[in-house]
Amino acid sequence: MKKYNPVIGNMPHILHGADYNPEQWIKWKDEIWPQDMRLAKKAGINILSIGIFSWSMLEPEEDVFDFSWLDEVMDMLAENGIKADLATPSGAKPAWMGKNHPETLRVERNGVRNEFGGRHNACLSSPYFRRKVTQINTLLAERYKDHPALGMWHISNEYGGSGDSSCYCPYCRAAFREFLKKKYGSLDALNEAYWTTFWSHRFTNWEQINPPMPAGDTNLHGLNLDWHRFTTWQYIDFYRLETEPLKRITPDKKCTANLMNLFWPINYFELARELDVVSWDNYPLWRNSEKDYEVAQNTAFLHDLYRSLKQGQPFMLMESCPSAVNWQPVSKIHAPGAHLSHSMQAVAHGSDTVQYFQFRKSRGSSEKFHGAVVDHEGQGRTRIYGEIVQTGEALSRLDAVVGTTVPARVAILFDWENWWAYTDAQFAHNDNKAYDEIVREYYRPFAEMGIPVDIVDETCSLEGYDLLITPLMYMIRDGFDEKIRRFTQQGGTWLTTCITGYVNDTDLCFLGGFPGPLKDVLGLWEEELDALYPEDENCIKWREKSYRGFYYCGLSHVLPADEALGQEASVEARYGKDFYAGYPAITRHQAGQGQAIYVAARMEPEFYRDFLGALADELKLRRVLPEIPYGVEVTSRTDGEKEYVFLNNYLPREAQVSIGEGGLDLLSGKEISGQVNLSAKGILIYQRKFS
Ligand code: GLA
Ligand code: ZN
Repeated sequence: MKKYNPVIGNMPHILHGADYNPEQWIKWKDEIWPQDMRLAKKAGINILSIGIFSWSMLEPEEDVFDFSWLDEVMDMLAENGIKADLATPSGAKPAWMGKNHPETLRVERNGVRNEFGGRHNACLSSPYFRRKVTQINTLLAERYKDHPALGMWHISNEYGGSGDSSCYCPYCRAAFREFLKKKYGSLDALNEAYWTTFWSHRFTNWEQINPPMPAGDTNLHGLNLDWHRFTTWQYIDFYRLETEPLKRITPDKKCTANLMNLFWPINYFELARELDVVSWDNYPLWRNSEKDYEVAQNTAFLHDLYRSLKQGQPFMLMESCPSAVNWQPVSKIHAPGAHLSHSMQAVAHGSDTVQYFQFRKSRGSSEKFHGAVVDHEGQGRTRIYGEIVQTGEALSRLDAVVGTTVPARVAILFDWENWWAYTDAQFAHNDNKAYDEIVREYYRPFAEMGIPVDIVDETCSLEGYDLLITPLMYMIRDGFDEKIRRFTQQGGTWLTTCITGYVNDTDLCFLGGFPGPLKDVLGLWEEELDALYPEDENCIKWREKSYRGFYYCGLSHVLPADEALGQEASVEARYGKDFYAGYPAITRHQAGQGQAIYVAARMEPEFYRDFLGALADELKLRRVLPEIPYGVEVTSRTDGEKEYVFLNNYLPREAQVSIGEGGLDLLSGKEISGQVNLSAKGILIYQRKFS
């Protein structure tokens, strides 16, 4: 039975493609465009994202439209069996618009309005801009609704991708005030939520409230947090505006917006709810050295996040670079084999596409040296083009993988609102709050053990997980304490760290001791938090081995049974140094059918490996393979019956892996088992029964 790619309904393949800007070559189209098609087809390319930055070519003068070139491109794609991921052009507005309608230009955080230039440069509240976006999106949808090349919609580009992503103009300020009015209803409620009596900040009129700006207020943490929430809401609202005509005119076409890394300004869990399919742009700093394993783990974390944003539904690797990413501080070229390995990593974590920025390298401007499928050489004679052809061939053998997902029973919390609030707080390590670093320290051992992980935020369901890890869960948003309580009652294991449960969701501290409403579940009270200088450390002995604790040390007390669900927590390890030697460093508390574990300090990697390894055994978490050598990543996808196992060696030397009974090697078509050799940067994908 054929499985159809959930990204584009009628394609039973993993998609292979790129951003394509044929309009840059319009004067040479008779020569260049046919060549593009020949090179795309040879590489097995079946999707191209077009029109991303085409506004000035589609509407060269205000209200003067020209779709003729796009008609030709769409026809050409259809003739060549390639689907268009057709973009709305709002990612960069034309120069005439900046001149004729200056209110479309953003006002920066310093209060100064920008000149025309760059991209991702519009005020999202500007009524004129909004009207023009609706107009051009409607024209695109009407014109191409029945076109055989139309595959899906690429909404704008990297929402928020320039400057600090917000606009501080009068329209946006007014919209912010409306957002707050709706949220709080009264100024009294807002004043209370923001604790405005502090430094005489009580507001008596909504007009007195401005976004956080250096020339004004940056100290009201509740306000800062709401500005982040407002920014997220603004992008969601704008996305809805953009997609309204598309959903109305082409209801069967999916829409996506390409996301980026851990993008600070927008809460992606919220934005992703709006998207039909999640897509993201991946530009790791590959090193072509031993360090690549670490780079791969960081990238794996991101792939897992993007898969988790829509509860495991396959995502799209919308952009990746076939070689040097020219804007990186050191733009390394990719070594032989690296391209296939990096591409397969995305598929291994749940992507149903491998796409690049860009198809043909531009001849001018700032991206003229950015890696591409087709280089300035132009004929596909490059090493990189050869590797892309090889990747296309490999992807063509993975039809069976389409639509499958990753069976994770471990969830790690990465919560944008918590990240904002915790980073804003003035305490402990103001130089570097290290939220995502510390979250990843808990992620890495699972990657090394071959145990799949989902990334969740506080709004996600915890159903189906055996283990929930919530590093630095400073903020407990409304209702999340109840979810954790239920999760542990029903048998789940909850592991958390110091700095858990300090504030509620308007960033007001919990009274009565931390972790606020979860003290009884954790069975302890964190009284103080010590921040350590880089040269200082504590030592924590757990199961006969001493480990280094650094950076943060939480000073806690086990609560008496009557304050802890009827049972005292047991102390598994204590601090060995400083005046708090003897204080609990690791505790475990029976909570309902489940348990709650507390790790008081930031620990060296060896500890996480040992501790989480023991916990994985205790909870009988399934490993894709029992033994995985350092440097090799092992992941899998399944449809519940078959399992597709991906091995990826990130080290610049050979590795041996035991795959036991093995199965069918999807790339060679041969049965494999026992000990297999992976070359430097080698990959292996095989199919076995899922059990
Ligand atoms: C981003 C953008 C692309 C391109 C690439 C270059 O991801 O979306 O348009 O600029 O970066 O790496
Ligand atoms: Zn604005």
